[in-house]
Amino acid sequence: MPGIVLVGAQWGDEGKGKITDLLADDFDYVVRFQGGNNAGHTVIHAGRTLKLHLIPSGIMYPHITPVIGNGCVIDPKVLLEEMDRLEADGISTHRLLVSCNAHLIMPYHRDLDGASERRLGKLEIGTTRRGIGPAYQDKASRMGLRVQDLQDPHIFVKKLEAALPEKNDILEKVYGLPTYTVEQIAEEYLAYAKRIKPHIAETSTVINRALRAGQWVLFEGAQGTLLDLDHGTYPFVTSSSPTAGGACTGTGVGPKAIDRVLGIAKAYITRVGSGPFPTELHDETGELLTRVGGEYGTTTGRQRRCGWYDAVIVRYAVQVNGLTDLAITKLDVLSGLKTIKVCVAYEHDGRRYNDLPCHQSIFHHARPIYEELPGWDEDISGCRTFEELPKAARDYITFLEDLAEVPISIIAVGPSREQTIMRRWEGRM
Ligand code: GDP
Ligand code: IMO
Ligand code: MG
Repeated sequence: MPGIVLVGAQWGDEGKGKITDLLADDFDYVVRFQGGNNAGHTVIHAGRTLKLHLIPSGIMYPHITPVIGNGCVIDPKVLLEEMDRLEADGISTHRLLVSCNAHLIMPYHRDLDGASERRLGKLEIGTTRRGIGPAYQDKASRMGLRVQDLQDPHIFVKKLEAALPEKNDILEKVYGLPTYTVEQIAEEYLAYAKRIKPHIAETSTVINRALRAGQWVLFEGAQGTLLDLDHGTYPFVTSSSPTAGGACTGTGVGPKAIDRVLGIAKAYITRVGSGPFPTELHDETGELLTRVGGEYGTTTGRQRRCGWYDAVIVRYAVQVNGLTDLAITKLDVLSGLKTIKVCVAYEHDGRRYNDLPCHQSIFHHARPIYEELPGWDEDISGCRTFEELPKAARDYITFLEDLAEVPISIIAVGPSREQTIMRRWEGRM
């Protein structure tokens, strides 16, 4: 009964899309459990680069049923555009299932996301402005509209009539923005509904039935551990639960359905948007990582902030996700560096912190304590076994593994599927 959760172990963009695609052969279902189109997962499939925002990365495989779980927030316009793009590329989307309980991103959510960021000014979170936060806010305050409401125009309009006046007040009176009429939104959304209806399902039942029948389900996380609403660097986080527990609440399976939890981490670390980042590099090494790693956001195109690998963060990710395995991606990007630093602890006010400090402002001002390891010059993008890697690269991986205290089972040495070392990952027999 393998239910396997895949999560980001840093601040997102760790290469979750690539690893999901890599493992997809073994799975019958690939399920997104949180987030929305703030995600940007890159998959290189049959020579083509696909950027998926909302649709699970398994969509290319005819044997896989892709599922968008109840924990996600769905912008129906974006969903249909993404489906159309895939269809135009010859990738069928007819198997896609969308949870009836997932919440809808409404036009006013997008407006409010942008407006609240503008109002915060220098204090902005740096959101993707896709309406994610405001949609989850309405879910928590029980003012949200759900995918199932698209099935009944009468109910959709009733719920919208209840929610919209307050939103219009905020748009107009707080932010001086244009308002909406019920008719305007209902017309737009009920047109989307016609196309989305065939995909709506009670996906918790579908997934549980599949697991009981011995089928393999991959729960594909978006964002990353430090962007988790509860466990991340609050308030510089997203509004959902990208950690492994989110796979249960975000799909409706029990914790016993999860057999393995795979965390994805880059061989260095990046973050998009604001917030503390102890190992951030503001020098030419940072620029090199940005350039060689192609560190520009998949969703917003923003330049990602780059820094040395932070072992405190990954150890924390091991803990809060119960990681059983790690995949280290983008090891190839480090080729050519004379030495490579790894943050093993922080220092603040004369005190050493081996774990994440409880107080956010200590994390803000923490100075990383580094260990420096020898680099390697060889191009490693053609290596397919651990033994083929130069000794310094093997030592680097072993060092990270000792610090994380979980096996590094997969190592990625390039963006394509083949550029991967399967070290300790035995698939479906
Ligand atoms: P995700 O959001 O976690 O799926 O990651 P993104 O797709 O946003 O960003 C990861 C980027 O790194 C993408 O452009 C991938 O094609 C690329 N990538 C993934 N693994 C590797 C790797 O091992 N080496 C290199 N050079 N690029 C990689
Ligand atoms: P994937 O799945 C990296 C960041 C935003 C911002 C914060 C809140 O591709 O790894 P939001 O729009 O979610 O309210 O923004 O979270 N963020 C991501 N950073 N990768 C992502 O997704 C992200 N999704 C959101 O930049 O700092
Ligand atoms: Mg991404």
